[in-house]
Amino acid sequence: MKVLVTYFSQTGNTEKIATVICEEALTTNESDISKLEKINMDDLSGYDFIFIGSPLHAGNLAAPVQDFLNRMQPVPGQKIAGFITHAALAYPDQDMEKFTEPIKNACRKNKMEYIGCFDCQGFLTEELHEMIKKRQGLTDEQWAERLKQMAGHPDAKDVEMARSFAKKVLA
Ligand SMILES: Cc1cc2nc3c(=O)[nH]c(=O)nc-3n(C[C@H](O)[C@H](O)[C@H](O)COP(=O)(O)O)c2cc1C
Repeated sequence: MKVLVTYFSQTGNTEKIATVICEEALTTNESDISKLEKINMDDLSGYDFIFIGSPLHAGNLAAPVQDFLNRMQPVPGQKIAGFITHAALAYPDQDMEKFTEPIKNACRKNKMEYIGCFDCQGFLTEELHEMIKKRQGLTDEQWAERLKQMAGHPDAKDVEMARSFAKKVLA
């Protein structure tokens, strides 16, 4: 099977997960990894399985990922899985269902098979700290606690879970 791992990442969290998924895919498949911006849409039909990664931006997949999904061409039978990183510790299942809707829609439209989505926490870039702290009305103490909790994500456990996800969906 030929596998592509493609992702959008501004601060490296989603890229870290992409690298692990590709490492896992390479154990049993021919696999490529590429930033979304570098993908030539015409080359996608050469893959049997595509992993698409995105950070969560204001409760949605990042705009370049949504644009990419909208531009995908039909490749009947091609398998698609997602992976998402977000600053929140975790989201309820119904929220994750909503976030993955653009991936599922692209699959429905293009007769591709949606396989599932992995998600984990990713550290929030420093420029956004003040804004999020203010928006959520957190005290300095609460914010310090939040930062401590976010630090280091995606961490070793997140990485192992991403690896297991890749192994399972590729099996
Ligand atoms: C513009 C913007 C909006 C964001 N909105 C959310 C959000 O709605 N929920 C959330 O949990 N994290 C949000 N985040 C945090 C990112 O999803 C998180 O830090 C992610 O791991 C970043 O991935 P990257 O390092 O691959 O860019 C946002 C980040 C940015 C830059």
